[in-house]
Amino acid sequence: MLVVQLAAVLLSLGLANALPADAGRASSVTTVSIAKGHGYEIEEHQVQTSDGYILTMHRIPYSKNTGNDGPRPVVFLMHGLLCSSSDWVLAGPHSGLAYLLSEAGYDVWMGNARGNTYSKKHASKSPLLQPFWNFEWHDIGIYDLPAMMDYVLYWTNVDQLTYVGHSQGTTSFFVLNSMIPRFKSRIRSAHLLAPVAWMEHMESPLATVGGPLLGQPNAFVELFGSAEFLPNTQLMNLFGALVCSDQAISQFMCTNTLFLLGGWNSPYINETLLPDIMATTPAGCSVNQIFHYLQEYNSGYFRQFDYGSTRNKKEYSSKTPPEYDVEGIEVPTYLYYSDNDYFASLIDVDRLRYTMNPSALKSAYRMPEEKWNHIDFLWGLNIKEILYDRVINDINNA
Ligand SMILES: *[C@@H]1O[C@H](CO)[C@@H](O)[C@H](O)[C@H]1NC(C)=O
Repeated sequence: MLVVQLAAVLLSLGLANALPADAGRASSVTTVSIAKGHGYEIEEHQVQTSDGYILTMHRIPYSKNTGNDGPRPVVFLMHGLLCSSSDWVLAGPHSGLAYLLSEAGYDVWMGNARGNTYSKKHASKSPLLQPFWNFEWHDIGIYDLPAMMDYVLYWTNVDQLTYVGHSQGTTSFFVLNSMIPRFKSRIRSAHLLAPVAWMEHMESPLATVGGPLLGQPNAFVELFGSAEFLPNTQLMNLFGALVCSDQAISQFMCTNTLFLLGGWNSPYINETLLPDIMATTPAGCSVNQIFHYLQEYNSGYFRQFDYGSTRNKKEYSSKTPPEYDVEGIEVPTYLYYSDNDYFASLIDVDRLRYTMNPSALKSAYRMPEEKWNHIDFLWGLNIKEILYDRVINDINNA
C-alpha cells in the first residue's frame, strides 16, 4: 500500500508526467507484462492519428494453446475513461475478455486512447505542456478510433472487425459512427458494455456534486485550455472532501481508484485483482473528458462540447452544439447494461434503446444481477459465466 500511496503522491505532484509512461506507476505492471505472465504472445503496435497523437495498441494474435494457427477474425477492444488496454487482461485467463476471445479463435486488438499510460506521445507536442491536453472523447471518436481501426484492418488484411467497448469506449463508438459513416461497413457488430450516451440521470457523486458547476458551457476551456486530470489534483480532493463526509462510504473507498471508476458499491468486485487494478488505473485523461460528461448531465443532451454561445458559433455555426446522430447508426449493436450502474443509469440506457434504429439494435441485455455496477463489466466475480460467455456467443453469431 505504501508504494501505491507514494505513487499517488508522485502523481499529485505532477512528477509522473516527467517520467517515462510506466515509471510513475506503483510497479512495472503493464498490459504486456500481465499477458506474458499468463503465457500469451503479445505485440505492441503504434499508430499516429491525423492530428499527431501516437497511440499504442496491444494485440494477442493467437491463443497460447493453439500457437499461430493462421488468419483469425479480428476483434477490437476499447477501454473506458481513466482506463487502458490493461482492463482486458488483468483478470487472468479465466476472466479476462482478451484471453477468452483469443481462446474462442479471435485475433484480439486492444486500443489505448490519447492521454492514457500507453498513449502519452505526440509528433510535436509534449505531454508536459498544456496544448497536448486539448482534447476530449469527441476526439477519441473522430481521430483515435479511425486511426487505430484503419491500422488494424490494413495490418490484418480483413474487411471487417468486431468492436467491443466499455463505458467511454461506447461513447466514442457513438461519436465515431455519427461523425464518420464509412465505418458502418467496417464494423461487423458492436458489443457495448455499460453503454454511455445520454447521461442526464447519472447518479455518480462526481456528477451530483460537480455537475452543476463544472458542467456549464465551458468558460474554463476558453480561458485556460484543458489539463491532465489526475485523481489527486485539488479538484479531486475537493470532490473527495464533499462526497466522503458521508460516513457510510469509507475513507478508503473515497480516495482510491474504485471510487473514481464508480465501483465502490459492488459485492462482485474480485478483490484478488485490486493490486493490479491499482497499478494500472487510473491511466490518465484530460479534464475536458470529464467536463463534457458533466455537460451532458446538466443539459440532458448527447451532443458535442459546449464552449458557450460565442465560441460555439465559430466552431459549429450555431449557438448550441450539434447533437450526435445516434438514430442514424447502422452498425448491428448489442448492449449489455445493469441496474446498479451509476454512470449508465437505466433511464439513460432506455433512452438510448428507444433512440437507436430498431434494425441496428440487435439486443439489449439487462443483467439480472441487481448489484452489478459500472466496473463489474470488467472485473466482476465469475464474469465469464455471468456475462462474457454471452458476449462471445453474440459475437460468434452476429
Ligand atoms: C478472481 O481473480 C483471480 C485472479 O485472476 C482469478 O484466479 C479468480 O478465478 C477470480 N475469481 C472469480 C470467482 O472470478
